[in-house]
Amino acid sequence: MEQITAKLCRYKNYNFPIGFTTAEYIDSLQDFEVRDSDIFLVTYPKSGTIWTQQIIISICELGGGLNEYPNNYEQMPWLEYTEGRPDYALRPSPRLFASHFTPALMPLGLKDKKAKIIYVMRNPKDNIVSFYHFSHVCRDLEMPESFEHYLEEYLNGNILASSWFDHIRDWHLAKDQYNILFLTYEDMILDLKTAVTKICTFLGKNLSEADIEQVVEKSTFKNMKTDPKANYEFLPEEQMKGDFMRKGQIGDWKNHLTAAQSERVDQLLEEKLGDLSLKFIWE
Ligand code: PPS
Repeated sequence: MEQITAKLCRYKNYNFPIGFTTAEYIDSLQDFEVRDSDIFLVTYPKSGTIWTQQIIISICELGGGLNEYPNNYEQMPWLEYTEGRPDYALRPSPRLFASHFTPALMPLGLKDKKAKIIYVMRNPKDNIVSFYHFSHVCRDLEMPESFEHYLEEYLNGNILASSWFDHIRDWHLAKDQYNILFLTYEDMILDLKTAVTKICTFLGKNLSEADIEQVVEKSTFKNMKTDPKANYEFLPEEQMKGDFMRKGQIGDWKNHLTAAQSERVDQLLEEKLGDLSLKFIWE
């Protein structure tokens, strides 16, 4: 791994936080033995990962057969990080994993299309703002010099998980190789019940109307914020010195981006992803 900043290292064209994983481990994941019952939640950071994590876990708990873990992080660990990693081969099914990986880094066995992947995308302007604030409270990330400077780093992919544009592009282009459900943060905000129902159907969980309502209730911003298993307040202070659950809204970008910065993002979207015909909800 090549160290590129005080907090970031680079391996296989992807930026990792220093100290969370090793090149050997990343390589070994190519041959990771995937089970048909495995569920992978994949996102670019700050796109609704811990939210969707709460939804998937709540669905699987009600659907039966999920083992108990102290919190959502241990119930659905990040595939790529070795820190405190249990031996996944010994872990009972169904196993749940989160990941910020691009397709090139994922286990090859996922291409058998049996295990399921849920991919969540968030509009890039709100994503930038969320990542910017997170970089102030997460001690594993570089403290931004200013919003302007951070925006440059983000647009050039010089941050954790590299380029948002590449992440979105790579996953959309690879979609036919995987058993994958695409969702957006904005659709979840606008109609959480429909999103929960879609996830249930994709996971093959036949929940009653009352159970679906219960999952929705457990996954609202307000309820997650006070749920000690889901709000990530269990992270030690030397890692996080603020809230993981910040605002949880669409459109906060309007309080941060100037008209010129917003136009620049629009332009890059057109240049880099225009051919994918993606729809974004901005407010
Ligand atoms: S991470 O670090 O990649 O795991 O972060 P991630 O979970 O992907 O993104 C964090 C943002 O998701 C918001 N969030 C929610 N929004 C709406 N409803 C619920 N229930 C919810 N849970 C988390 C969280 O507040 C972060 O967004 P911002 O805009 O910063 O508030």
